[in-house]
Amino acid sequence: MSAFFALLAGAFSLLCLYLYLKHNYWKRNGIPTVKGCVPLVGHMLPVITKRMNFSEFIRLVHEEHKDHSMVGIYKGTRPVLIVRDPNLVKIVLESNFSNFQENGRKIVAEADPLLSKDPLFTYGETWSTGRKRLAYAFSNVRLKTLFPVVSGVCKKFEDFLNERLKTSNKYEVDLKSLFLRFTSEVVTNGGLGIEGYCFEDNVGVFHNLAGNMFAKSLGTIIMFHYPDINRLLKFSFLQKSIDRFFRNVVCELLKIRRNDSTPRNDFLQLMIDFEKSGGMIDEEGITAHAVSLYIDGTETSSVTLNFICHNLAANLEVQEKLRKEVRSTIEEHGGLTFEALKDMTYMNQVISESQRLHSAVGYLQKMCTEEFELQGSDGLTYRIKPGTEVDISIFGLHTDPKYWVNPDVFDPERFKDERKQTIEKMTFLPFSEGPRLCAGRKVALLQMKACLATLMNNYKLELSPRTQLPLKMSPHYFMSEPVGGNWVYISKL
Ligand code: HEM
Repeated sequence: MSAFFALLAGAFSLLCLYLYLKHNYWKRNGIPTVKGCVPLVGHMLPVITKRMNFSEFIRLVHEEHKDHSMVGIYKGTRPVLIVRDPNLVKIVLESNFSNFQENGRKIVAEADPLLSKDPLFTYGETWSTGRKRLAYAFSNVRLKTLFPVVSGVCKKFEDFLNERLKTSNKYEVDLKSLFLRFTSEVVTNGGLGIEGYCFEDNVGVFHNLAGNMFAKSLGTIIMFHYPDINRLLKFSFLQKSIDRFFRNVVCELLKIRRNDSTPRNDFLQLMIDFEKSGGMIDEEGITAHAVSLYIDGTETSSVTLNFICHNLAANLEVQEKLRKEVRSTIEEHGGLTFEALKDMTYMNQVISESQRLHSAVGYLQKMCTEEFELQGSDGLTYRIKPGTEVDISIFGLHTDPKYWVNPDVFDPERFKDERKQTIEKMTFLPFSEGPRLCAGRKVALLQMKACLATLMNNYKLELSPRTQLPLKMSPHYFMSEPVGGNWVYISKL
């Protein structure tokens, strides 16, 4: 019996020693460590217990360590470096890209076969091939050909709102659900070349899919922050039903399209043409691209529109100024054209300022792929090794008083041409930066601007008391989502 207890005590001491060594990694390397490390769990307790999501957690770390260029945390026993200094952010995202090529969010290919081909999760040759295809699909010329589709969706959007406003002066709506209809219809029309029926409650399925695509469970936290554990548990990010749904839709569409000679201009056709020209893409590859388009594009754009319109409803003078620009530009161009959207520069300011205050993505997760010596402006140095994760707080940089005057105030004038030049590089990252900059940025801006122009030209937005102010981000979702929703009243002008 006493031998058993001695063995137990020995094993316990060894575990303590192991944890002591693991959780002292940053101290040994001279990097300040965030307080509150729990043995085995590391710093992730508030995230695991859903007190906050990781975006909020890393924002607090960024805010609380204003005297340091970098700071260490542990995800479990794994050391993760958080860089705060814009110069270090530039090294990681842009100037030393070859040392930090991989994204830190990992999925398991067997669990997520379709997503495993998304540029967000790939690296090396697979990443650069996928990225080139997207660059071609979203070139300026192709964006112009996408515009009539977006224009058509704007018309459906107007019809939908007018129908709701037939029986009442004001339509009260949670913005996220409204904009998921818009962005899902753009992807189904412009991406797959089919009707999405996203503005029809009992027929359309795509906009309902959009809000439920990703697991909101503990599985997502394990997947993104404990990749070693997920290699064993194999949680999938994309819900199985969504995986099946997309495979069926694309399979049926391909059957029709491969024997159809009607000239078409959508994303699916582009992928079919790649396949025909021997472009190393098969049915699974085409489905994966279609899923990527849907996943990377719908939710991010609708979340961004959601916050822009919240800010417009909460700042009526900005809304009025934007409306003036929209109406005068439409008049100048004789309608809401592709060129008219380009000329709406105050709209760009409003979008950027809203993205600064409420970015859809709260943090970036990168992986060191080649050893490099990071040198912070405060004198801290750290020789980072391959396999070490580096995280960057987008929220933290966007509201850091060192770079922004009155950071909590919504002020689109910050992004006026003259003042824009003075913004410190790498402190504004709504679409990230460098070679892994969002591949769909231009498509996102095109659809968001068209949607906003339609709204501003014809409707007024006011805050509904159902919105819980100040906005508090939900701890249950990895993207920004206000607790209780973002409710507004929409009325006709
Ligand atoms: C307002 C809307 C959008 C926002 C805020 C946004 C934001 C971002 C951010 C922050 C990243 C970097 C992620 C990381 O490095 O961890 C990213 C990457 C990406 N985005 Fe977007 N995105 C938007 C819309 C879109 C759209 C419409 C598409 C496609 C149609 C798209 C496709 C992609 C792809 C493929 C990547 C991966 C790029 C790579 O790693 O090479 N995004 N996006």
